[in-house]
Amino acid sequence: MNLKGKSILLGVSGGIAAYKAITLCSKLAQAGADVKVIMTESAVKFVAPLTFQTLSRHHVVTDTFEEKDPSVVSHIDLADHADLVVIAPATANILAKMALGMGDDMLSTTLLAATAPIIVAPAMNVHMYEHPAVRANMETLRERGVRFIEPGEGQLACGYVGKGRLAEPEQIFAAIIDSFEPNRPLQGKKVLVTAGGTVERLDPVRYLTNDSSGKMGYAIAEEARAMGAEVVLVSGPSSLPRPAGVEFVPVLSALDMLSAVMERLEEMDVIIKAAAVADYRPAEASPVKIKKKDEELTIRLVKNPDILQQVGARKTKQFVVGFAAETNDLEANALDKLRRKNCDLVVANDVTREGAGFGTDTNIVTILDKNGTAERLPVLSKREVARHLLQIAADRLVSSGGE
Ligand code: CTP
Repeated sequence: MNLKGKSILLGVSGGIAAYKAITLCSKLAQAGADVKVIMTESAVKFVAPLTFQTLSRHHVVTDTFEEKDPSVVSHIDLADHADLVVIAPATANILAKMALGMGDDMLSTTLLAATAPIIVAPAMNVHMYEHPAVRANMETLRERGVRFIEPGEGQLACGYVGKGRLAEPEQIFAAIIDSFEPNRPLQGKKVLVTAGGTVERLDPVRYLTNDSSGKMGYAIAEEARAMGAEVVLVSGPSSLPRPAGVEFVPVLSALDMLSAVMERLEEMDVIIKAAAVADYRPAEASPVKIKKKDEELTIRLVKNPDILQQVGARKTKQFVVGFAAETNDLEANALDKLRRKNCDLVVANDVTREGAGFGTDTNIVTILDKNGTAERLPVLSKREVARHLLQIAADRLVSSGGE
């Protein structure tokens, strides 16, 4: 990896994960980048500036008013010379300052002056990460084009187990490389992804749904966008933030999802059906709240259309990917779905395995191809599964003359 000639401004804010920024700084310098480091006052409490100075061969700036070179204004000069700004770790505090446009220390002031792309790798306690204010700030920044490298899940320094660990330096480094040498194999392609679970109304206050979080589908939509595609995300209700830069089509029922997909099918190059679609819906949705009367209540359900099957039946040039959530006979059941629904690929996962299925950040999948091959992947983040899958789709579009 060569970063020669690239100027990277590394902002280190105050969290215990600041120690991981040392490895990142070292990797960047080794790759030839000219790295300049700004540390917040709190970051200095965790790690000594001298460490970064030694690795970057530059003075580490911490104070806005410490103007060492009278020929320049330090925060403007640092901002102007950066090809890329990376904040790792980013605390809830620096995210809030960035979202609000505050400039009350060297890092936040420089960020206001920076016009280069910004990559942010947050790290904090799980409850802080989930706080609505932090979520809203991240959403604001995302909308402004800031790229996030999501924290990992696991044991946190505060003792909690959950999401909030700074992404590993290798992962941040890979995102930096990608921002300079973008891998855009889906440039010019249109990708439609369905995500989340559907909602089937019983009456105005009740419905049938399932446990799908939407994580897999949202990761696919975000990665497809990063790989250059024009993305449509058709999603059932989900608590996840809307991915930036994709056309978002919110739906509720399977019937809504069917029409949203079918309307757009023709113009798409890739269709990925990660949604957990309800197989049945109530035969009638009562317009008024169903009253409690008898000891037993029977709700008659009717079959929903199979969206994937209809896509498979109508597809022309489209590369179609289905998902198969199974609890037994994984590959045989998934292969049967692939054939019945005329898919090009089926991503099969055994939802009973730990680290796979609904709500988790990871997945353990086997990718079955219509030509009969099965690729069994290890535990990967849903994002990695998404990238892998999309790379297969991109390769296939090229080999089928789709370029
Ligand atoms: N699917 C769909 N429409 C449906 C049901 C499923 O488009 N009405 C899609 C899903 O989005 C997924 C694939 O079909 O990509 C497989 O979904 P799954 O629930 O595993 O399969 P089913 O066909 O419902 O089979 P079964 O419930 O018998 O396992």
